[in-house]
Amino acid sequence: MNEDQRLQSTQITATPAKPEKDYGQYFQSVYTPPSLKDAKKRGKEEVAYFDDFKIDPRFADMGKGRKFYIRTYGCQMNEHDTEVIAGILMQLGYELTSAVDDANVILLNTCAIRENAENKVFGELGHLKPLKLENPDVLIGVCGCMSQEESVVNKILKTYDQVDMIFGTHNIHRLPEILNEAYMSKEMVIDVWSKEGDVIENLPKVRKGKIKAWVNIMYGCDKFCTYCIVPYTRGKERSRRPADIIQEVRHLAAQGYKEVTLLGQNVNAYGKDFTDMTYGLGELMDELRMIDIPRIRFTTSHPRDFDDHLIEVLAKGGNLVDHIHLPVQSGSTSMLKIMARKYSREHYVELVRKIREAIPTVSLTTDIIVGFPNETEEQFEETLSLFKEIGYEMAFTYIYSPREGTPAAKMEDNVPMEVKKDRLQRLNAVVNEYAAAAMKAYEGQIVEVLVEGESKKNPDVLSGYTAKNKLVNFVGPKAIVGKLVKVKIITTKTWSLNGELIEIVSDQEVGV
Ligand code: 5AD
Ligand code: SF4
Repeated sequence: MNEDQRLQSTQITATPAKPEKDYGQYFQSVYTPPSLKDAKKRGKEEVAYFDDFKIDPRFADMGKGRKFYIRTYGCQMNEHDTEVIAGILMQLGYELTSAVDDANVILLNTCAIRENAENKVFGELGHLKPLKLENPDVLIGVCGCMSQEESVVNKILKTYDQVDMIFGTHNIHRLPEILNEAYMSKEMVIDVWSKEGDVIENLPKVRKGKIKAWVNIMYGCDKFCTYCIVPYTRGKERSRRPADIIQEVRHLAAQGYKEVTLLGQNVNAYGKDFTDMTYGLGELMDELRMIDIPRIRFTTSHPRDFDDHLIEVLAKGGNLVDHIHLPVQSGSTSMLKIMARKYSREHYVELVRKIREAIPTVSLTTDIIVGFPNETEEQFEETLSLFKEIGYEMAFTYIYSPREGTPAAKMEDNVPMEVKKDRLQRLNAVVNEYAAAAMKAYEGQIVEVLVEGESKKNPDVLSGYTAKNKLVNFVGPKAIVGKLVKVKIITTKTWSLNGELIEIVSDQEVGV
């Protein structure tokens, strides 16, 4: 699967240190860029939980007669942040528009994981400039991971004067204040906290669909893999309390949602920051599986923290799906060491053996980086051989992209770009071969599909996903959208299955 497929964009706007925790009071514009150095510091201070998010009555009518447009880049965490941003904007009275030139507030919710993700945003800012010149009252904002980067904020300050607001991943709940400041000031409003240790509950959300929902279980990452910018842009690991998560999932079930994906940058570290109890992802999944919702998944896993208790719980099956996305990054132990992944090839293979022993039907997918600084041909071949040894059914594959501020960005690199590109192509050929073979095995089989809607390519065809996240296309009545149905697979492709509707499994309609 390539970068473009992964980085689909969706449509739906600094302080170096964090101020005192009185969120309602804090109100000023600050023009200091974020600091990656501060973002790296991990304090011992306890996580503070806030469950009293309220919109200041002064801002109640701010959005009346105004529309907003949000373009989202990157991962599901960003998609879900967009749902929160949209929730706040709608509470302020703004209306959602899908036409950018119809909007009074335009927000780009950005991704910093690779350079090309960032370039897309800079390109989009360029496209928005004429719109801003035509209508200076339009507010343009940049949020998400890029706004946590010093270099990006400096670049925007210097070159993109069409931008009115920059706010960070820890500052979403401050959007009403940020907007108010932007309306009142001619200066660019920058609201980015480099450090964060809190969890804010009860933020409003406008979910994108009524069938599948995302639920954050934790924020941030403490792993500091040497290539990765996320621990800097998303802050330290903070887990939501189990009761809050369980309540949210119960509520989604009651609303008729059929699938929940638990989100975190490193979900296997869930609960490690609790000081008052021993409670991890295994315990959480064990409680969630009792909730009457057909499918529960989680992403993303880190092999190092994937423990036996979680495997034991996942093996109970039921609504816990038998698909695990388990990023490996490289098949070479020496390369994994330089990446600071904190596991070896052997440890990973052993983990997969345990998972397969407990869950024989499990489908495994992964993330792989090729062309890390000084990666040798032998190390790359170890990645190819691991891919085959595990027999992954799909992988997101990337060429390493240096991220300023990370340790890997300082490493000298003797691998030419043509070699990196060639490795990616060779890897993708294997990925495609294995993906196609995994699909082929479904020929003639009957699978359970959660119907999501019309196929993107053909409105006469319906599409949905199996528990193992395989895309299935078939002809059927629109009335079954939101239901679980049985489909017999007739033909298979590398990334999708085509079948015939056999039977409707659940007749509980999802509210649309
Ligand atoms: N360059 C290339 N790929 C990266 N990833 C994370 N950081 C980088 C980088 N600097 C990939 C990893 C991760 C996925 C979300 O993105 O494979 O699992
Ligand atoms: Fe990045 Fe590693 Fe954390 Fe994943 S576990 S978000 S790759 S630092």
